[in-house]
Amino acid sequence: MEQTRTLTPRTAVIWAVLRDELARRTGERLTVLDIGGGTGGFAVPLAEAGHWVTVVDASPDALAALTRRAAEAGVADRVRAVQGDGDALAGLVEPASVDLVLCHSVLEVVDEPASVMSALVGALRRGGAASILVAGRAAAVLSRAMNGHLDVAAALAADPDGTAGPRDTLRRRYDVDTAAALLTTAGLTVEEIHGVRVLADLLPAAVADGQPAALVELERALAARSPYRDVAAQLHLFARRPA
Ligand SMILES: C[S@@+](CC[C@H](N)C(=O)[O-])C[C@H]1O[C@@H](n2cnc3c(N)ncnc32)[C@H](O)[C@@H]1O
Repeated sequence: MEQTRTLTPRTAVIWAVLRDELARRTGERLTVLDIGGGTGGFAVPLAEAGHWVTVVDASPDALAALTRRAAEAGVADRVRAVQGDGDALAGLVEPASVDLVLCHSVLEVVDEPASVMSALVGALRRGGAASILVAGRAAAVLSRAMNGHLDVAAALAADPDGTAGPRDTLRRRYDVDTAAALLTTAGLTVEEIHGVRVLADLLPAAVADGQPAALVELERALAARSPYRDVAAQLHLFARRPA
């Protein structure tokens, strides 16, 4: 599956965590839900590995691209594309039917992250797992400051939601504690937290492009270790609905 694809700083750490969960469930065909799964960057490889994947996404264009991608990969029969809202899953996905739910780069753009989390937990079976990826606040503060935008960095650091105001492209960003609290409040037990893109966005392109394997290896080595994890561009939380 993912070993046959090129792992990047954006994907390597997440695939490592997902691969461990799939290994724990070896021999099972899992029911997977990808909320805001977009064009299927994770959904299609999971279907190629034999799992049944439903992608719920608000964008018809993304779902059309997903459907094409699944057909090209020969897994159209295992990928269901559903247009819908992440906080209204009850009519789209049977409650307590999902073994693994993905929600990557979505909670920072939706109206009500707590509502999406509640719907996500409602879709999960007891003992099922959740892979959540959110934008990190600390990396955004550091990058704005390093680029000379000290006012924006100060606003990001001070704002309760981790945004720089109405012109910000994201509605919120998370720290390790606030992200974990969102999941815990929704009823999940957080098992692992990793940083994604600890270094990738900080390096000159010549270094990142010139030594891609070394960069992926270093990202994986740093991902679980504080303080590196805490200043990553994204935070990946792996959690479980208690059995
Ligand atoms: C930044 S993309 C992330 C796509 C994919 N999860 C990934 O990591 O590559 C955000 C996706 O969430 C979808 N989205 C945004 N708000 C949503 C909502 N309320 N319900 C479902 N999907 C939503 C968008 O259409 C888009 O495909």
